[in-house]
Amino acid sequence: MMNRKVTKAIFPVAGLGTRFLPATKSIPKEIMTLVDRPLIQYAIDEARAAGITEFIFVTSRGKSALEDYFDHAPDLEASLRAKGKKDLLNILENTHMDSGAIAYIRQHKAKGLGHAVSCAHRLIGDEPFAVILPDDVIAAERPCLQQMVEAYEETGGAMVAAMEVAPEQISSYGVLAVASDIGRVVKVKGMVEKPTADKAPSNLAVIGRYILTPKVLDNMSSVDVGAGGEIQLTDAIAKEIDHGRGVYGFRFDGKRYDCGSKAGYLQATVAFALAHPDLKDSFSNYIENMVAARRAAQ
Ligand code: UTP
Repeated sequence: MMNRKVTKAIFPVAGLGTRFLPATKSIPKEIMTLVDRPLIQYAIDEARAAGITEFIFVTSRGKSALEDYFDHAPDLEASLRAKGKKDLLNILENTHMDSGAIAYIRQHKAKGLGHAVSCAHRLIGDEPFAVILPDDVIAAERPCLQQMVEAYEETGGAMVAAMEVAPEQISSYGVLAVASDIGRVVKVKGMVEKPTADKAPSNLAVIGRYILTPKVLDNMSSVDVGAGGEIQLTDAIAKEIDHGRGVYGFRFDGKRYDCGSKAGYLQATVAFALAHPDLKDSFSNYIENMVAARRAAQ
């Protein structure tokens, strides 16, 4: 089966980020850094590696720092050039977007992820597209979205990234009811948003990477307000199953960090610092000494 190439990605960044208040009162969550790169840069790098060339941000009030991040910074660049700091100029180069490659759409009210994605409907046209939630950071040898794009070339339909989670965490996720399990790919027969552990149809949870078709956006018009009083993306995807179209879960290779939560963000910070070429030796020494000191004090 030949499926159309995925070249567009939507980045919904219009959430309120309440779990990081007060920081997110004035800083978008997606600008928070893991070591030295903001969360949004990890998401963009992953999208680029998967062949994405058009980047659509669904933003809201107070997110202008995100728009500035992708602009050229003439004074800073001139100063670095004058000082011959080529390495820093190269790092900045990676933050630039070609004119026309990036679009910003406004979500005026945080009505939920499904609503945020539907705000980009008119920019999507008739093509499959990716959705990346930048607060889900995935450390992987081959970037997660790239793995999904390759799998999608075989399956078509709608595809969500999936991972196994512990029963006590399942109620935080959209959960898949599995029709058949074909290795990394599972065929989905139902999806439930934030079920209690006893009602969860499996332990396979949806996390923040999707490849969808415009039909999912069409479904949005008949999606009611769902779990948490929000318009949920999983509800619009689940309607594809009702229409007899394929929905697939993809078990990706990699480690996902929930950087929308304080614990997940701190775990990612430690993991990325321990993997950073300039920091790993001194930082691992620091952690080892700290753990030893804590043990000795107990
Ligand atoms: P979250 O569930 O993490 O919500 O959204 P949030 O508002 O960002 O953070 P908390 O829960 O208040 O701390 C998941 C993703 O969906 C986007 C968010 O920006 C995030 O990337 N989102 C969510 C929107 O763009 N609009 C919404 O109305 C809701």
